[in-house]
Amino acid sequence: MPRLITISNRLPISVKVKEGEFVYEQSVGGLATGLSSTDAKENYWVGWPGMTIKADDQAALAARMNKDNLQPVFLTDREYENFYEGFSNKIIWPLYHYFKQYASYKKTYWEAYRQVNERFCEEVQKIARPDDVFWVHDYQLMLLPKMLREKFPDATIGYFLHIPFPSYELFRSLPWRKEVLEGILGADLVGFHTYDYVRHFLSATTRILGLNHSLGKVNMAGRIAEVDSFPMGIDYDKFAKAVFEKETIREIIELRQQLGKDKIILSVDRLDYSKGILQRIQAFERFLERYPEWQGQVTLLLILVPSRATVDQYQQLKEDIDQAVGRINGKFNTLRWTPIHYFYRALPFNTLAAVYYMADIALITPFRDGMNLIAKEYIATKTDQTGVLILSEMAGAAKELTEAILVNPDDPHDIVRAIHKALTMPAEEQMARNTAMQQTLRRYNVKRWSEVFLDRLKEARLSTEKIK
Ligand code: G6P
Repeated sequence: MPRLITISNRLPISVKVKEGEFVYEQSVGGLATGLSSTDAKENYWVGWPGMTIKADDQAALAARMNKDNLQPVFLTDREYENFYEGFSNKIIWPLYHYFKQYASYKKTYWEAYRQVNERFCEEVQKIARPDDVFWVHDYQLMLLPKMLREKFPDATIGYFLHIPFPSYELFRSLPWRKEVLEGILGADLVGFHTYDYVRHFLSATTRILGLNHSLGKVNMAGRIAEVDSFPMGIDYDKFAKAVFEKETIREIIELRQQLGKDKIILSVDRLDYSKGILQRIQAFERFLERYPEWQGQVTLLLILVPSRATVDQYQQLKEDIDQAVGRINGKFNTLRWTPIHYFYRALPFNTLAAVYYMADIALITPFRDGMNLIAKEYIATKTDQTGVLILSEMAGAAKELTEAILVNPDDPHDIVRAIHKALTMPAEEQMARNTAMQQTLRRYNVKRWSEVFLDRLKEARLSTEKIK
């Protein structure tokens, strides 16, 4: 049985220092869950350990991580700045999320990106066997499939992009567009969350590289790269069961005591400009003005998970949100009622499950989002089938969760109308909508997503072998 080598910028754990010792902190990310299959003992994961490690400590830490089938890729502070903050998060992230005005096309960023992708390739080579299956993830590693292909010409290589792939009209502005496409096309199978991203990618491939494709198969010299959509799922059972765990129940009781009978609108995101957080808060303000009878009856529970806080735009956004929350609370507060409860931190799993379960509405209005797993987690946690999901039509998840109230995140009136509709929706309608969405999510969970991708990857490799 071939081993699976997963390669992503972040490992499924991050290394922290506690009392002078290195310790692992488990990531709760869906990817780690999706890939934990029965033969997991044999599989390997290559990635960045989440912090800068001094040169003297690297060998010992790597040896220890190897025992857990992890291969660390150490980055210097400079590489972190130019590869991670720079090319990945000041060029690709804004461009792919249609925030081109935030993209800063610096050559030093590009050079670091190429070098760090090469380093990932070297680290893979240290552990790889000829019949391994390589699965490369996300926008931080778009050059890696081609680099691996050069080292292992007959290898089975998959690539999955977890964020949107933008329209050709945007993508074409990237000075390194050709290298990026060629890098990705080193894979036998390229996966995206939605068919729109597939279309954009294929159109860029034809126009920029002049390559022909038919039914998602791109003809490369002597081989085929297949491109298709594989919408990622969640660990459905984990969320559906969480509600019955003691810790979650305790959190639910506590939260209810604190919030009384108020209806709860939940907003959870990484603090990111692509998520439309500020505009969502402003839409809530507008809702309170337009429907004053709801003042004192409904609370926005705003949870923002700190993210990329060293990048300028993220800092600015945090300041703008702090101000808006202060202003709105100042405007509407009463002794008994606070319109917005604001938390700037990551919540432990059971607390998150409790707030999902408690929330009458989940308000998720990104301007752009590759998928948005939070929308799916919210629905999975609703074991009594009540609750209303308001979801941006710009999130990849909107393609599957069609029973949600879909809104245009750029239209505040649409969001206000949706909040009112959700607050007044009869319970039977809520249940009918949620039951339908739960069926989809239960069936196409994250395990199934990875199995479907890996099966298709094997087939894609076979079709190249046949034409040889
Ligand atoms: C998105 C990306 C991931 C990334 C995550 C957290 O979901 O698709 O690749 O790991 O955000 O961002 P960070 O910059 O902290 O890794």
